[in-house]
Amino acid sequence: MAGLLEGKAALVTGAASGIGRAAALAFAREGAWVAAADRNLDAAKATVRAIEDAGGEAVAIACDVTDDAQVAAMVAAAVEAFGSLDCAFNNAGIAPFQFNSGGVLAADLEEASWLGLIDVNLHGVWRCLRHEVAQMRRQGGGAIVNTASVLGLVGSGGSAAYVAGKHAVVGLTKAAAIDHAPENIRVNAVCPGYIETPMTEDTMRKRGEAIMARVPMARMGTPQEIAEAVVWMCSDRAAFVTGSCWQVDGGYTAR
Ligand SMILES: NC(=O)c1ccc[n+]([C@@H]2O[C@H](COP(=O)([O-])OP(=O)(O)OC[C@H]3O[C@@H](n4cnc5c(N)ncnc54)[C@H](O)[C@@H]3O)[C@@H](O)[C@H]2O)c1
Repeated sequence: MAGLLEGKAALVTGAASGIGRAAALAFAREGAWVAAADRNLDAAKATVRAIEDAGGEAVAIACDVTDDAQVAAMVAAAVEAFGSLDCAFNNAGIAPFQFNSGGVLAADLEEASWLGLIDVNLHGVWRCLRHEVAQMRRQGGGAIVNTASVLGLVGSGGSAAYVAGKHAVVGLTKAAAIDHAPENIRVNAVCPGYIETPMTEDTMRKRGEAIMARVPMARMGTPQEIAEAVVWMCSDRAAFVTGSCWQVDGGYTAR
């Protein structure tokens, strides 16, 4: 039986770890050729090896999404490798603690922390989207999924830059979906709840019990559970789905 993404070329940012790695593997399992991009090239190469070991085809690309020239080169390299760009998963992102902003009240954030976090989590997504759309436009269409978060839909204490950036990714997703629908380009977002990845290890160690008390399913999600939603949104099964921001969160935002 053919996979959901048979014959499609896909690009994943943040493909070296966590959700991005799981999505890259799931794309390949569904028959896509995968460009696995990350600022950590060695770890992206490990994702590629895992895809190849499973019988898939992939290339690793070094890219820091805070650098527009690198993002342009990433999209060009993906197209060079596979001839087109049918699906793109703009997933690279960082947690509040990675810019000294975890646990800091909104008004007490250092400007550098605010700007640094927003540059990766929001501007990085926009840079990827603009270069992907330029390619998809040339080839007559495509599907883009951005990684937002449940914190793109509801607030949370001590993480204002992260929450603001993820809310903006939701807004960007809706606006871009409207702008590019006439060009046959669909733009959606996935809003993960708390997922077992290196990003959440520290937070879960410190506040795991309190966070889980808020999750109706009383557990964390797996990166694979996010990947399944992303694969579907990128596939032709989702042909009428654009501008959606899909919570995959064990019920976190249903309360
Ligand atoms: N883990 C969760 O609970 C959770 C929940 C909601 C949303 N998210 C979002 O999911 C996405 C993936 O997170 P994860 O949990 O898999 O984290 P992770 O830390 O396991 O993986 C993130 C990957 O992004 C890469 N990356 C970071 N900054 C980059 C940059 N400037 N350029 C290129 N690559 C960069 C890292 O090298 C890493 O490989 C992020 O956008 C995150 O905000 C995660």
